[in-house]
Amino acid sequence: WVVTRTGRAPSNIAVIKYWGKRDEKLILPINSSISVTLDPAHLSATTTVSASPAFESDRLWLNGKEVSMEGVRYKNCLREMRARATDMVDERTGVTIRKQDWANVHVHIASENNFPTAAGLASSAAGFACLVFTLAQLFGVKETYEGELSAIARLGSGSACRSLYGGFVKWNMGQDVDGKDSIATQLAEHTHWDDLVIIIAVVSSQQKETSSTAGMQESVRTSPLLHFRAQEVVPQRIKQMEEAVKTCDFEEFAKLTCADSNQFHATCLDTSPPIFYLNDTSRRLIGLVERWNRFAGKPQVAYTFDAGPNAVMFARDQEVAVLLLQRLLFQFPPLPDVELSSYVVGDQSV
Ligand code: DP6
Repeated sequence: WVVTRTGRAPSNIAVIKYWGKRDEKLILPINSSISVTLDPAHLSATTTVSASPAFESDRLWLNGKEVSMEGVRYKNCLREMRARATDMVDERTGVTIRKQDWANVHVHIASENNFPTAAGLASSAAGFACLVFTLAQLFGVKETYEGELSAIARLGSGSACRSLYGGFVKWNMGQDVDGKDSIATQLAEHTHWDDLVIIIAVVSSQQKETSSTAGMQESVRTSPLLHFRAQEVVPQRIKQMEEAVKTCDFEEFAKLTCADSNQFHATCLDTSPPIFYLNDTSRRLIGLVERWNRFAGKPQVAYTFDAGPNAVMFARDQEVAVLLLQRLLFQFPPLPDVELSSYVVGDQSV
């Protein structure tokens, strides 16, 4: 017999960034972070997991290519999920799998992104959130405390813990040494702020040179600015951002989002050797938004960049979004090879 489940999980974009771990194995961060979950129609991972006694080993295919499952992150997620497996009756096949039998049943996992992998659009976040979510369906795992699945997704990739929830999400850094309290919680549903528009500018779909994992390790080791940021800046910003989200205060949201993206990229420059994630097009987009807001007399648009050159912009409403899209399309000289997509946050169906 073979039993199969398929799941989909969206990507997310941090507006207060996670950068730096205090525990590499458990993936515990040096500061809390806040993100917006993106529309799964635009940016998501779809994962199919099959289990069968005929499978000789666990195997994984990413975007159609088989990759090794030797990585400790996959192993940790699978181990934690297997340990929580329950008796399962598969309605489609009539097969019953006992809790104790799961330990000897291997899985085949196939995962696909509907957007460029590792170009700074949080593909690992969507991928690991989707893996954990789909394994939970297959193994019949129910959370014994709220955030348990989020904590397991975190073992795959820190930012993945935020992708298990829609809307506005906070990853609480936590204090416990075992990481039990380092989980994501939802701050607000996507419908809470329904006129906010997200505009994604894919500037390059190339794989980034320095992975987030390696980049943040180097920053923790060498950047004094990162430690100042984690201790002195982010705690205050988290509170301010929570309030801005709660009250749908776009001006505050935009100021904090841009400032935090810029400080994150400053810590990358402060790393030795320095890490450059932004390119000339990213910097042009920053200049354009900054000028836009100056002319408007108040922030109408915000930008943020993860570990890559692609921009995620927020427009305060649809009217601003349409004008901004026109401006981006008719730039002179034109923005080279930029692919634009946009959607209203409140319309997404997470
Ligand atoms: C810049 O979650 O990809 O996107 O935990 O090592 O897998 P690992 O790193 P990852 O880092 C994301 C960094 C970021 C900021 C953020 O998403 O908060």
